[in-house]
Amino acid sequence: MTYKEQVDYNRLPHHIAIIMDGNGRWANAKGMERTMGHQEGAQNVHDIMTAATAMGIDYLTLYTFSTENWNRPAQEVSALMAILLQHLEEELFMKNNARFRTIGEIERLPQIVQDAIHHLVNVTSKNTGTCLVLALSYSSRWEMAQAVRHIAEKVEAGEMKASDIDETTIDQHLETRFMPEPELMIRTGGEQRLSNFLLIQSAYTELYFTDIYWPDFNEEELCKAICDYQGRQRRFGKTEAQVEEQEKNK
Ligand code: IPE
Ligand code: IPE
Ligand code: MG
Repeated sequence: MTYKEQVDYNRLPHHIAIIMDGNGRWANAKGMERTMGHQEGAQNVHDIMTAATAMGIDYLTLYTFSTENWNRPAQEVSALMAILLQHLEEELFMKNNARFRTIGEIERLPQIVQDAIHHLVNVTSKNTGTCLVLALSYSSRWEMAQAVRHIAEKVEAGEMKASDIDETTIDQHLETRFMPEPELMIRTGGEQRLSNFLLIQSAYTELYFTDIYWPDFNEEELCKAICDYQGRQRRFGKTEAQVEEQEKNK
């Protein structure tokens, strides 16, 4: 039986976040330039997005370019920007009835990429299927600094009091405020770390690591990760017995 057949489609995660790692090593293993790995990786986003849409996943957030990735060789950064631009195409989204959003410091991207992003966000805003979110020039520490700055500005302007600040206030100032927290986070490429991705939002997220390089991560692998997630008990600090009782009363 395939993993695709084993998925319980009534208990899908609403939000899946993926750290798409391993493009460079995928290419090197084949004796190719790293950039070829990025090309192939971008192509794979189409397949995974189509699979997520068909399943009915509400949000798919993909770590595409981190704040730290600006420190890569200039040539690799510009190749990544060119590939990104090439793939911000309307057709794929319209075909899948998918919305497009981004999180991150978009203003740092080349103007032509920013324009394409704004266009795609606008034309897909009325679509009702999966929302594909690309994290671009994103890092959790940047996001946190940004959130704290915005809250402080409101306090300074007298719009709110410091004593009013609670966990909800912080959530409402994060880049991700328009979506629920991810239930499942996948990292491909073999590393077991979060690399500054959704640190606050993944406080109770189920983590799934696979050695498979991103260009080889296909629908069946996605289903395997979902099956793994569905086999776990999410306790949120409670005991096993409490959670079982809760499930019974649902
Ligand atoms: C992920 O693949 C894509 C980006 C970070 C832009 P990498 O480029 O990090 O690939 P590896 O980890 O070097 O194999
Ligand atoms: C994480 O991959 C960032 C993205 C996938 C966009 P990296 O390859 O940059 O992560 P590290 O440097 O191995 O932690
Ligand atoms: Mg990497």
